Amino acid sequence: MTPWDKPLRRRGLVLLFAAAAAHAGGDAARGEQAYEARCSGCHSVQADRIGPRHAGVLGRRAGSVPGFDYSPALQHSTIVWTAPLLERWLADPEALIPGQRMGYSVPDAAARADIVAYLGTLKP
Ligand code: HEC
Repeated sequence: MTPWDKPLRRRGLVLLFAAAAAHAGGDAARGEQAYEARCSGCHSVQADRIGPRHAGVLGRRAGSVPGFDYSPALQHSTIVWTAPLLERWLADPEALIPGQRMGYSVPDAAARADIVAYLGTLKP
């Protein structure tokens, strides 16, 4: 090992930990951008569109926005949206709630964490 290897490696480790921490928590500012890019074609925060409004979604029972025309599957689901469940929904909605009607998913785990962090900031 050359003398300058060690600090370099240590810096690499620190970066690795920083990346892991950012991922676990998600970044709401990045999530807002991802939401605009990926979700706003069908959803908005305050209004129902092709999908239901997202204000207050964290902690809300799935399929419970009054007046929104949900699939029976989502309407009858007993799930209450938590961050881990929202991540599973975004990864594969059909796997979480078979028969649902959202034809969209987010394969990238870091993007999912960011989006869920952003959803958590949307108060009812
Ligand atoms: C192609 C349109 C479309 C896109 C794009 C889309 N959604 Fe949806 N979403 C829907 C529809 C339709 C439903 C209702 C599904 C049902 O009734 O089974 C839904 C439902 C949901 C729900 C459940 C809400 C509730 O009230 O229970 C969440 C959470 C959600 N979407 C999040 C997202 C996020 C976050 C994105 C962006 C990453 C996204 N969706 C992108 C159409 C879409």
